[in-house]
Amino acid sequence: MSQTDRTVKQTRTRPLRIALLGCGVVGTAVARLLTDNAGDLTARIGCPLEIVGVAVRRPDKNRSETGVDASLFTTDAEELVTRADVVIEVIGGIEPARSLILAAMKHGASVVTANKALLAEDGPRLYQAAQECDVDLYYEASVAGAIPLLRPLRESLVGDDVRRILGIVNGTTNYVLDKMDTTGAGFGDAVEQAQALGYAEADPTADVEGFDAAAKAAILASLAFHTRVGAKDVYREGITDVSAADIRAAREMDCVVKLLAICERIPSSGGGDSKGGGDSKGGGDSKAGNDSAGGISVRVHPAMIPRTHPLAGVREAFNAVFVEAESAGQLMFYGQGAGGDPTASAILGDVVAVARHKVVGGRGPGESTYQELPILSMGQAMTRYHISLDVADRPGVLAQVALAFAEHNVSIETVRQQLLSPDPDSPDEGRASLVVVTHTASDAALSATVDALAALSTVRAVTSVMRVEGE
Ligand code: HSE
Repeated sequence: MSQTDRTVKQTRTRPLRIALLGCGVVGTAVARLLTDNAGDLTARIGCPLEIVGVAVRRPDKNRSETGVDASLFTTDAEELVTRADVVIEVIGGIEPARSLILAAMKHGASVVTANKALLAEDGPRLYQAAQECDVDLYYEASVAGAIPLLRPLRESLVGDDVRRILGIVNGTTNYVLDKMDTTGAGFGDAVEQAQALGYAEADPTADVEGFDAAAKAAILASLAFHTRVGAKDVYREGITDVSAADIRAAREMDCVVKLLAICERIPSSGGGDSKGGGDSKGGGDSKAGNDSAGGISVRVHPAMIPRTHPLAGVREAFNAVFVEAESAGQLMFYGQGAGGDPTASAILGDVVAVARHKVVGGRGPGESTYQELPILSMGQAMTRYHISLDVADRPGVLAQVALAFAEHNVSIETVRQQLLSPDPDSPDEGRASLVVVTHTASDAALSATVDALAALSTVRAVTSVMRVEGE
């Protein structure tokens, strides 16, 4: 299409003013795409976009790769947001991003952000401000980078009922677990490899401890279940305790270990163990519902999934999200979850959407919380465990182990026993490895079973405990 044709299709001639907050890897890619693709974006929106400023900490740094005139870089973000129609926030973190977004909305700007931490911490305040100011708040890039996921949940699947989301939403941890699985590397070595390739930050805490994935799980669950879910509501376990023994145990089961973000609707009939508990490492019980009412379970933790599951084939730093809905059935979204251009792609999609609304009027869908489902504690989550034990090989041990499961009302699915060579410290005592996989039970019951097993004198060690998902 020629530039003249594009001009003919414009329905508004005054450009829409774009302010970009932040010019790191993602901001640079956004600026470059805005400048390189200006003609096509004008045609698609029906109006030209004009970058009126880029807020940065160091305005004198050479940023010629953005294609943005050097005079447009400023340190005065507060002033910049007062003279824009669309503000793109890629600073990250809570402040000053939150204040700038709220100020931008107050001045009539729609906002596009990739800021999962802010949305998971204070999303409702931002959604409410967007509604009061009659502007859009779009955030496709906040979860799983380039993958179109939030708009499908918010719009394409809004006529359906989402039952469960299983997501690999953190590329760094997927890379680390993939390396541990394919090369036998230990956790520390795999993290170092991820750092060398630029996947992991120098301080990898947010990724490896599951904070990043938990923020994304909160955003996904809020959209899928029309319920406010914040980061504090998400049970979180990272991958720092995943050992080479866990990875080996998974391989023996023809499974692979993934850090999963799980958002699941638990029907009222299957509400789990009313004793609750198990919230050792994260939130998850702030709005615990009762079993008869059912609710939603939102959690991030490592889990074994069968190698036949579509998520098992997600390698290296890729992301993928598996959605199960009542009518649609199973859906899989796959792609790059981070990086400048992939994240910028999602941001530009949002920019076009909110800009179109500026041209023709109206807003996109706002926050939907009408279901207000209770958020269940981790103890109430329904899951399965894979447990490896190092036990004494003598009469009655298997019966004792089986009794511990029975006493906690946990049903065993499979048991495998293998003789081990004797411990050099007690060469006369027989030793065996017992691998038990359970049927589904509440996490509280499963976790109490593991405690009971660990206390048995015949159990020499609990060598691996891992949840099993993805049946
Ligand atoms: N650090 C994230 C990841 C990308 O490793 O996937 C940004 O959310």
